[in-house]
Amino acid sequence: MRIVETNSPDETWELAAELADELGPGTVMALHGDLGAGKTCFIQGFAAALGIDEPITSPTYTLIGEYEGRLPLHHIDLYRLSGPVEALGLGLEEYFDVNGITAIEWAERAGDLLPDDMLHIEIKADEKTGTRTFRIYKEGEV
Ligand SMILES: Nc1ncnc2c1ncn2[C@@H]1O[C@H](COP(=O)(O)OP(=O)(O)OP(=O)(O)O)[C@@H](O)[C@H]1O
Ligand SMILES: [Mg+2]
Repeated sequence: MRIVETNSPDETWELAAELADELGPGTVMALHGDLGAGKTCFIQGFAAALGIDEPITSPTYTLIGEYEGRLPLHHIDLYRLSGPVEALGLGLEEYFDVNGITAIEWAERAGDLLPDDMLHIEIKADEKTGTRTFRIYKEGEV
């Protein structure tokens, strides 16, 4: 378990850039945290570090965005997922077994459809200071 605090969106981008250097193709990241915690901010920094200059957004109708960088990045945001049937229809498996990196917001909504060996990134915001605490660990790691 790695625990890192960031005090601004820029610092979150720096942390994301460090991870982008370390993580290889096939990595699936699950981002956990309340609305506004910084999940998308982290993924934006990660994308920038992969050399992607397109803006990473969370579109209303598409749950999956694909971007070409040093490695391909798949951004999946399941916040608007209507339920398990829609999750099945997304064909998520296709995105996991690839040469790229997959980052999933609200991953828990996909239930059983998630791979077993994800990298979990939990983000907690301190409402008083604005500090974000990141807890980063592999599936099954204590
Ligand atoms: N240390 C920090 N790291 C990241 N974001 C921060 C930080 N401090 C302040 N912020 C602000 O918090 C907000 C994070 O928003 P973001 O869209 O990344 O959240 P999210 O977790 O993706 O939310 P949602 O569940 O709605 O998708 C941004 O407005 C950002 O500027
Ligand atoms: Mg988001």
